[in-house]
Order: sequence, then structure tokens, then C-alpha cells
Amino acid sequence: MTTLITNIKELLQVGSISKEMVCGKEMKILPTIKNAFLLIEDDLIKDFGSMKSISKFEVDNYVDAKDRIVLPTWCDSHTHIVYAGNREREFVDRINGLTYEEIANNGGGILNSAKTLQNTSEEDLYLQSAKRIEEIMKLGTGAVEIKSGYGLTKDAELKMLRIIKKLNENYPITIKATFLAAHALPSEFKKNKKAYIDYVINEILPIVANENLAEFIDVFCETGYFSVQDTERLLKAGKKYGLIPKIHVNQFTAIGGVQVGVNYNALSVDHLEIMRDEDIKELKNTKTMPVALPSCSYFLSIPYTPARKIIDAGLPLALATDYNPGSTPSGNMNFVISTASIKMKMTPEEAINAATINGAYAMGLEKTHGSICIGKKANFIITKEIPSFGFIPYSFGNHQIDKVFIEGKEI
Ligand code: NIG
Ligand code: FE
Repeated sequence: MTTLITNIKELLQVGSISKEMVCGKEMKILPTIKNAFLLIEDDLIKDFGSMKSISKFEVDNYVDAKDRIVLPTWCDSHTHIVYAGNREREFVDRINGLTYEEIANNGGGILNSAKTLQNTSEEDLYLQSAKRIEEIMKLGTGAVEIKSGYGLTKDAELKMLRIIKKLNENYPITIKATFLAAHALPSEFKKNKKAYIDYVINEILPIVANENLAEFIDVFCETGYFSVQDTERLLKAGKKYGLIPKIHVNQFTAIGGVQVGVNYNALSVDHLEIMRDEDIKELKNTKTMPVALPSCSYFLSIPYTPARKIIDAGLPLALATDYNPGSTPSGNMNFVISTASIKMKMTPEEAINAATINGAYAMGLEKTHGSICIGKKANFIITKEIPSFGFIPYSFGNHQIDKVFIEGKEI
């Protein structure tokens, strides 16, 4: 099946060769073709170019994109979409003055979500999660990473990972799975963190690896959660099974998590709200992608990741949602790029690069996703009639999406 999209006002993030990622000054450049066409065959991009040079194609479907912009779908490289229930009561507690930390210390937070998830059937959890997948596809996301980490027992962690696998099988969106049992310390291990890490490494990890339930391993490396030493132990164990690190670091405190990530060749280090100069230096000349989660900063009223410092140091940066019930109950990448522009001073070009090709890299998907290239997945957004691509982050709180195509099919 072939589809030809004609008269595209501007085709964004387009290239004859696929880049791995974009870094530093290069992030200010967004390659585009004005007055363009895009040809897709089945689930792949077959051709693109200027309308002036279009050949005669016999196709099954035509779409006229007059006055509309076309860009690759968003690549959301950090989410916790598989969760049960919500935490709006904690939201009200925070409005009334409690901090995220105080709520967690009182048995709320991640442990609260874990209790709910443990008591939710696999069918129900699947349905709750599938709703969120459908929601984010409509908002223009074509590839997403999902973490475990609200199970915290062998059964519940495996239940989460099996659901992630099922979602990947049942929906056209590409889904990558991450094993995050080291997300919080369950209360029964309160006095014995080592025993919980032993349990994760010896009892859960081998099953996750044998059943191919995750490609990545994550740890919440943070004061009061898992230390640098704990993180090293977990990443080392994961590596034995071929799991690649993608870790939560520097959300509230900088304790050396970035350094551990780099030492263990993490594909990404995520959050980075609190960055010391040495953390930025550490990331130079590495293959590790820094990932910022501005919706989390917005929701928790914590500092934003210093994007300018990171990009101006020549580094790449990716943007993701962190969709989860506690710190970011939103999977809207359109809001993420607006917030990155408004609060982190990223230009529209930088924000779009960060949310497409760099997000794809942070999931190991840069060869198939994140840009308009021949042979890549036919994943793209057709916008409403808008004056320029800068209008996408400018019109915050709205989205400018008319149609979303994933693997060549309109959603
Ligand atoms: O990425 N920081 C750790 N984990 C999640 C939030 C977890 C929660 O509050 O439920 C995050 O923000
Ligand atoms: Fe997270």
C-alpha cells in the first residue's frame, strides 16, 4: 500500500542520510524542505523531495497537506506508563504544603503506587495502560520506552514487563522495555537494602533476561533511594545479562550518578535537574545521551535541567515526558517541547531535534525512527494549518496535530 502526501508547506527533520544524534550548536539546525512531498510504502518511507521535482506516482492514497507541516512523530525515551490508579490525593497534599520527599517518607510515593499495582489484576493493568498508549499516539508519539518499577516484587515486576511486551505486540507504536526494580526500597526491606538488591539480582533479573522482557536496566540513583555503590552493583549485574543501562540520576541531588552512568556506558542518563560542572564535563566525548524531563520539573516545581549549559558545552540533549502517576501524570510531548522552549530556553529547532532524533537515540532506535529518511519507519505528524514550526512550541497547552501516521497507517 502506497500513500503520497503532497503540497507539504514544510517537511521537517529530513535528510538523505540518517544521523545518529545531534549535538551542541548543530541542535540549532533543523533540516527542512519547503513545498515538499512524502511517499510511503507500507510501513516505510519510500521517497521525499521538493514538489518541483516530483515524478508521476501511481499510489493507493493521496493526502493534500496544503498549509500544513509534516514532521517525524515524537520519540519519548523515558516513561512509566504501566501503572495502576493515580496519586491525585498526594497532589492535593503537595498543594497544601507537603513536599514530594515528605509524602514518600510517609509511605506515599512510589511505594503507594506499588501497593496499588500489586493488587491490580494483569487484565485490568493492561487496560489502564493501553488507554495511555492510545492517548499518547494521538498526541503524536510514535516510539516510547516504558519502565517497570511499580511492582517491587518478583511477580509484580514480571507482570509489568509482560504487559509492556503485550502492548508492543498489540499496538503499532514501537515500545522498548526497561527493568527498574531498583526504583524504591519496599518497606519489608526497609532495614536491609542489601537483601533487596540481592533479591533483584538473584531472583528477578535472571527471569527478565531469560524471557527477554527488557533491553535496558534502570536504577533510581538518588539520596534516600539507591546509592552510587548500589547502582554500580545493579548495572554490573545487568550487564552480565546484556542489559544496557538507562538511569535516573541528579533529580534532587548530585551524588555521582552521571559518572556511574558514563563508566557503565549508559545509553542515557535521565532527569539531570541538579547538574554540577563536573557532571557536564563527564558527559563530553561519550556515547551517553543526557535526557531532560521538563514536565516533571513543572509538576513538582523543581529546577529545570540546565539545557543551555548542556547544549552550549557541545553535548546533545533529548527530551522525554517521564509519564508516571507521581511526578508527571502527562505523556504529552507537545507540552514537553513548549516547556523546554519556554523554561529551558531551547529554540524550537533544538526542542524538535531533542524530541525526535535524540529521543530515538536514547532508545537505540536512531536507525529506524526520529527523522524523515528513506527506509525509516513511516511515522509522522501532519499539523493543522500553522504559520511556521515555531508555532508548535509557541502555542503551549494546545497541540497542532491534525493527523498522526504510525508505521504507515493513520491513527
Ligand atoms: O522519574 N524519580 C523516580 N521515579 C519517577 C517518579 C516516581 C513516582 O513518584 O511515582 C520519576 O520522576
Ligand atoms: Fe522516571
